Amino acid sequence: MIYALVAAEDLYSERILMKNDYLLNMDLSKVACVRPDEAQWVKSPADGVSRKHLEREAEESGHTTSFVRFEPGSYFPEHTHPQGEEIYVLEGVFSDENGDYPAGSYLRNPPGSTHKPYTETGCTLFVKLEQFQADDTTLVALRPEDQHWRPGIGNLKVLPLHTHNTESTALVLWPDNEVFQPHTHWGGEEIVVIRGRFIDEYGEYPAGSWIRSPHMSKHFPRVEEETLILVKVGHLDNEPA
Ligand SMILES: [Fe+2]
Ligand SMILES: [Fe+2]
Repeated sequence: MIYALVAAEDLYSERILMKNDYLLNMDLSKVACVRPDEAQWVKSPADGVSRKHLEREAEESGHTTSFVRFEPGSYFPEHTHPQGEEIYVLEGVFSDENGDYPAGSYLRNPPGSTHKPYTETGCTLFVKLEQFQADDTTLVALRPEDQHWRPGIGNLKVLPLHTHNTESTALVLWPDNEVFQPHTHWGGEEIVVIRGRFIDEYGEYPAGSWIRSPHMSKHFPRVEEETLILVKVGHLDNEPA
């Protein structure tokens, strides 16, 4: 009986240790940044599909943010997204049973949705899993031809992709040598540098960088060359995980 109790305790601590091994950047109250040379591509359980982990709370479930690369002709098994899946196609053509999505496409598969993704040509994606607000049930599939640029502050161009309550997602195009105003991120800010180089007083972020800045963080951003970024704001006022 005593042996059984000890064994159960050992198993429990091993589970905790394993969970902690997978934990990555899950304290949303802290700055997190991954430049392209700071993370390795890691093979996924599916042949030809690899990932760069950015945020992770478990091995293959829960809150996850990553870059995902599909080799030509690869697929990922059919799966359901209990709390939604957000995708931006960075390169190539991503496909599932609902259609083909070329580079520049933005997808939101709402909570409870199911699909079997694949690619014929190969593709690279930015993917956020299990992070939808409970009442955000809108299916979104915006291909480049469905997207419309608008003038932004200064010489920026802005392409709104999705808004729900305080959460807002957009593409922002910065022309050469554009300097933005110092500002505070209410609800935080998350950026993927798609093209060019993004700069603020804390560093420089080449294409392929991911930056997460917490609620009420501040910065003074600028660029030197034309730069395209994906920006999410207003979604990081959560308690740390
Ligand atoms: Fe999916
Ligand atoms: Fe900002």
